[in-house]
Amino acid sequence: MKKLRCASFFAGVGGIDLGFHNAGFETVYANEIDKFAVRTYEENFNIKVDCRDINDVKTEQIPDFDIMLAGFPCQAFSLAGLRQGFDDEKGRGILFFQLERIFIEKKPKIIFLENVKNLVGHDNGNTFRVILESLHKQGYKAKYQVMNAMDYGNIAQNRERIYIVAFKEEELYKKFCFPDPIQRTSTVKDIIDFETKMDDKYYYTEGKYKGDIFEQLDVAMKEDDIDNPSIYQWRRKYVRKNQSGVVPTLTANQGEGGHNVCLVKTKFGIRKMLPKECFNAQGYPKAYKLPDELSDAKLYKQAGNSVVVPVIERIARSIADII
Ligand SMILES: C[S@@+](CC[C@H](N)C(=O)[O-])C[C@H]1O[C@@H](n2cnc3c(N)ncnc32)[C@H](O)[C@@H]1O
Repeated sequence: MKKLRCASFFAGVGGIDLGFHNAGFETVYANEIDKFAVRTYEENFNIKVDCRDINDVKTEQIPDFDIMLAGFPCQAFSLAGLRQGFDDEKGRGILFFQLERIFIEKKPKIIFLENVKNLVGHDNGNTFRVILESLHKQGYKAKYQVMNAMDYGNIAQNRERIYIVAFKEEELYKKFCFPDPIQRTSTVKDIIDFETKMDDKYYYTEGKYKGDIFEQLDVAMKEDDIDNPSIYQWRRKYVRKNQSGVVPTLTANQGEGGHNVCLVKTKFGIRKMLPKECFNAQGYPKAYKLPDELSDAKLYKQAGNSVVVPVIERIARSIADII
């Protein structure tokens, strides 16, 4: 098969690109405005990322491609945000229309979109309807499905996302099916290293943080199951244990303000998940490189903003199968 060419928008650290790459596709163009995410992307891919604001990129400056990839910004639709959608005061909701401008001119065979589950219900379904109608008007037929990484990616993270795959050719549209759920065999132990003593900065110890956070954590985090240890979150005033034995949904603002990074208890004490472990929770390969000079805060954000690579790869393989 001649490799189909992908153009990646809102590319972040390249999670969608990696899934498609693993399924045999080739990225020929990537755009991402955040220079720190670009740094991580370029460390792992042999591509020079176009780091301009997508609003400033002329369509003719983008090379031709067969598949559009886009996990477009979701804060405007996310339950965690203000949900202003297309009216988002920071303009994040209307970035979809930049994609529209590009697919109208470039006419890719396939458009792959990823977003928060709430995109479907946002504004009583109007937001989603506008997106589907936009695709439809340009002759695309779309299938979509909400998938949880723990059911579809064999990854111990609870992460529900909507995936939209739109086809220009009716035949491909008819043939395409989303992958089936798979039995999860991996656990949080494949994500988190419980056996190694990490840098002191990741540990909660007595007197390190103001108030009685440590004391509360110490009481609440009584480890129960050695084979499938629990993941906890500090929620401003109390400790929450994840009941499904997986990592809770990672978010882009983890590590900022009141949005704390998940916690684990190991024989060395109570600590935060490492940035690398957050990338593991997104199914990135262990060899994925995180640039040394980037702060933990930047890396936590990059991981939280990203996708679960094995889910993307399975969808990309389902596309490859019908081409
Ligand atoms: C949800 S994240 C996508 C993450 C990506 N799928 C990954 O695996 O890392 C959305 C990305 O859009 C980028 N972005 C936001 N506004 C942009 C703009 N105007 N032009 C280009 N990129 C933008 C953000 O910096 C962020 O990295």
